[in-house]
Order: sequence, then C-alpha cells, then structure tokens
Amino acid sequence: MYGNFAAVYDFLMRDVDYKKWAEHIESIMKKKNSEVKNILELACGTGNLTIEFTKKGYDIAGIDISVEMLEEARKKAKREKLELVLLNQDMTELDFDLYDLDCVVCGCDGYNYVLDDEKILNSFSTVYDILKPGGIFIFDISSEYKLREILGDNTFTEVNDEVSYIWENFTEEDICQMDLTFFVKQKEDEFGESLYRRFEETHVQRAYEIYEIKDLLASAGFDDVEAFGDFTLDSPEGDSERIFFAAKK
Ligand SMILES: C[S@@+](CC[C@H](N)C(=O)[O-])C[C@H]1O[C@@H](n2cnc3c(N)ncnc32)[C@H](O)[C@@H]1O
Repeated sequence: MYGNFAAVYDFLMRDVDYKKWAEHIESIMKKKNSEVKNILELACGTGNLTIEFTKKGYDIAGIDISVEMLEEARKKAKREKLELVLLNQDMTELDFDLYDLDCVVCGCDGYNYVLDDEKILNSFSTVYDILKPGGIFIFDISSEYKLREILGDNTFTEVNDEVSYIWENFTEEDICQMDLTFFVKQKEDEFGESLYRRFEETHVQRAYEIYEIKDLLASAGFDDVEAFGDFTLDSPEGDSERIFFAAKK
C-alpha cells in the first residue's frame, strides 16, 4: 500500500482542505483544555497536516510506514522551504524515545489500516506511554457507516487528463478491500497522443464501531475519551462519515 500511489496521492486529495482539518484538530485541543506546543503525528503520509502544523508554529515530527509517502512529504517541504522531521516507522510498533509529549495526532484513516485489536492496542499503549500526564491523543477514522454504506461494494471512477482511476470496493463484515487501478500520464507520443502508465494497489481498511475504539483507548489507560462527528464538536450521528476521537492521559 502507498507505494506507486504515493506519487498521485496529493493530486487525488487536491480538494481536501487540510488547513481546515488542522484547525479542527486545534479546536478539539482547545475544547479539551490542552496546552500543546509539540506534536507527534502518526501516519503522516505526504505531510499535508505536518506542513499545516509546522506553519502554525508547532514543533512536530511525522511518522509513516510508507517510504514513498515520506519521500513526497520531503519533496513538498523542500519546495516550501520547511524543515520537517519525518521517520519511517510502523505506528503499531512505535520506537520513539522522546517522552512527555503534549499531543499525538493521526489524521485521515491511519487506524482504519490497522486490522486487529492487538496491534491497535499496542499502538494506543505506546502513545499513552510517550504522552505527558494530561497530554492529548487526537485521531480520526472513516466511520463504519462510510465503509459499509458509502464505500461498501461500490465502484468509483475518475477520468482526468493527468490521472484516471478505477476504485473497486469489496466489503465483508468489518473489512473493506479497495482495489485501485491507476492510469498516470507519462508523456505524449510523436502523434501528440498521451501515454499512460497503469498500476494497481490493494488497500484494506477495517470499520471500527465507536465503542470498540473507546474500549481500546480505555484498555490502554486513557480516560476522558470523547468522539466527535465529521468536522464538528458534536457527538457523531448514524451517518457521520468521519469520527474524531480525543483521549487524555
Ligand atoms: C489516507 S493516508 C493519510 C495520510 C495523511 N495523514 C493525510 O491526512 O493525508 C493513510 C496513511 O497511513 C499510513 N499507514 C497505514 N498503516 C500504517 C502503519 N501501521 N504505521 C504508519 N503509517 C501507516 C499510510 O502509509 C498512509 O500514508
């Protein structure tokens, strides 16, 4: 996952407002009365949130399992003349030797990619260990409703000059397999016709119910656990597509 896809990730996410996303995370920090100066960001991908938080003056480090996604983040940081601290790690086997952190963040589905309870608990427990007392853990996942009802067994396509894709979903119980086929423009031939490179990736996400995540956070030691629906500070509704969680040490 997130191999060849990394080069087109930002193009596909071009309509996502990461500034608003970072502001929403800040509004959760504020609601939970958290004083945050430093952040560890898990599953930071191409650094879209990392860059927003850096611009806002936070001291932030990002971790991702995909070398290719981190490479895209590095290129972007260079273009924007920003210095990012980026580490290639699996967040279910975190090896981070800084402690007493103010905040750990994981934006946009990172934990949907962790498929079993033991691994997610391992990650939550390490996050708990590296936070300062009173530190806050904020992350969001695609909701069970989104994975089952919207992605479900549906197929999505986009046809575009630069990148076209076919995105086929197969959902069984709480597991959604996404088979992605991309066609990425390479160059034009001598007749002015575009040539495209085709590649495939399979992503697998798990649909978690809110109570499952809350139970796992409690098992890791967190208290004051709260869930918010979409980009609001209200409780999730049955048709919320994104669930934000906040938990304090
Ligand atoms: C949908 S992308 C989100 C990237 C970024 N947070 C954003 O908002 O654009 C999911 C990211 O999770 C990362 N990821 C999945 N499983 C992971 C794991 N076990 N440890 C660290 N990163 C992981 C992927 O490599 C990918 O970059």
